[in-house]
Amino acid sequence: MLIIKEKGTFEILNNMLSATKIEPLKKILLSWREKQNIIGFVPTMGAIHSGHVSLLKKAKKDCDRVVCSIFINPTQFNNPNDLKNYPIQIKEDFQKLKDIGCDLVFSPLEKELYPKGAISNAYNLKGLDTIMEGKKRPGHFNGVCTVVQKLFEVIMPNKAYFGEKDYQQLAIIKELTKSLDFNIDIVSCPTIREKDGLAMSSRNTLLSDNQRKVAASIFKIITTAKKIHQKNNPEETKQWVKNAILQITEMKLDYVEIVDAKSLKKTTKKTSSSILCIAVFVGNIRLIDNIFLK
Ligand code: PAJ
Repeated sequence: MLIIKEKGTFEILNNMLSATKIEPLKKILLSWREKQNIIGFVPTMGAIHSGHVSLLKKAKKDCDRVVCSIFINPTQFNNPNDLKNYPIQIKEDFQKLKDIGCDLVFSPLEKELYPKGAISNAYNLKGLDTIMEGKKRPGHFNGVCTVVQKLFEVIMPNKAYFGEKDYQQLAIIKELTKSLDFNIDIVSCPTIREKDGLAMSSRNTLLSDNQRKVAASIFKIITTAKKIHQKNNPEETKQWVKNAILQITEMKLDYVEIVDAKSLKKTTKKTSSSILCIAVFVGNIRLIDNIFLK
């Protein structure tokens, strides 16, 4: 058990440490690093679900110590209502993290990470941010990169875990890590789904019962699109998806793209590694998903 204790700066909860401030957090991490512990890091915005849990479990398997951050990052929300309505379940989150065996939770207040105010840095992301989420949510990826850079600099993990559910984010974090010369292994983890195929997401809790039923058709549509793609070109497959979404009155398409899985450039021909990415609105709730086509 760790001996550093600065009253009011961190707590020990059944072997799980909890820090809200950077300085005590750094001391804990340093003590682990001195013991040559491999540190795994899972950044989240909380409302922990089985998708997050899968990342934490993978980190537990690979590393000596697992750190999870819970921080609803204001700079990545381009829509103020989305930020206002983002689910907060801090008590349940801590219980889940304890049950998994997470070693340390970092849940800072905004001023701890943004002492000069919630402002994003500007990044050159080599065009990875100019389509799909980047195009539809201006500033979103600068916000994500800003907070991930801050968290990486404070935590300095050996490995960091990200979900394929947010495929464009994963590609961008890999690029950010490379461009900033961080010595961090970015581990990608497969999308975890509900029984009916809906990709797990903190935003799913905001869906009404009927919207929740409707949302299950996203996965049905993209799995059918994968089959259709075997005999059609990307444009035809996308058109099929657009038509399929049009049939569902409660759903509105934001975008559907077929891109190269590495460069995220739109593909016009079939390639050996393409991915179909989709964003839809069910009511006011925006949901994203994707499927590898090969
Ligand atoms: P959040 O949406 O909380 O997601 C945290 C991590 O969990 C991300 O890497 C995300 O891809 C992964 N994840 C979410 N749903 C998943 C699912 N169904 N299956 C597998 N992994 C899943 O993504 C963010 O937070 C933020 O942008 C963050 C990186 C924390 C920066 O603020």
